[in-house]
Amino acid sequence: MKILFVGDVVGSPGRDMVEEYLPKLKKSYQPHFTIINGENAASGKGINHKIYQRFLELGAQAVTLGNHAWDKKEIFDFIDDAKQMVRPANFPEGTPGKGITYIKDNGVELAVINLQGRTFMQPLEDPFTKADELIKEAKKRTNLIFVDFHAEATSEKQALAWYLNGRVSAIVGTHTHVQTADDRILPEGTAYITDVGMTGPYDEILGTEKEAVIKKFLTSLPVRFEIPKSGRTQLSAFLVDVEASSGKATKVERILINDDHPFFG
Ligand SMILES: [Fe+2]
Repeated sequence: MKILFVGDVVGSPGRDMVEEYLPKLKKSYQPHFTIINGENAASGKGINHKIYQRFLELGAQAVTLGNHAWDKKEIFDFIDDAKQMVRPANFPEGTPGKGITYIKDNGVELAVINLQGRTFMQPLEDPFTKADELIKEAKKRTNLIFVDFHAEATSEKQALAWYLNGRVSAIVGTHTHVQTADDRILPEGTAYITDVGMTGPYDEILGTEKEAVIKKFLTSLPVRFEIPKSGRTQLSAFLVDVEASSGKATKVERILINDDHPFFG
């Protein structure tokens, strides 16, 4: 079975890319499950109900989040009812929303887990032991488990991947917004990529207007980061083939669509 994951959708340029290319990707690859990381989907910070609904209408069955999950206040009004949305599971007990959800295709269930790293990020609960706990819970229902690990440090992403080797179908990194070329299947059948990459502005810095980022490096003064409304865009995604019975990954493919990597599907 195929799982298609679209990396961090940034603002309206990212959403426009999803509108344009998700139908084409679905037609070409025929994924059984489609997941989108939407933590930057509303003007680069957070997500609102309208965008969440639109992602579902476009064919996503699950939306994952990350450190920007809470940036739009509206999230607190709908996250508890958003069955197909997951926020990092290692936020403290009592945090609204949930860190695991189950999506179905023809009776086959996929568990979708969202976790957040702690290196150069907020001091949340331990994502490793939280993963143990959630995998134990998921295994009672299915062997198909997908993890979006929203983290800054490559070492922490690799460490969790090797720690989960053979216990999940796939663990993909998000948050750093640049697609890495290390997509692979670990020896016990877990698909991995350090970062899927970003879906949004192509000629900016991690999706944010480059002038402001350069100014910050030049002056060390606070600047306002904005997402540009126009300009060239890209889509980053990851495709995993898994064996339905065992949940082991059998094939992986990186997808990058921009003017330097056109989509011919
Ligand atoms: Fe993030």
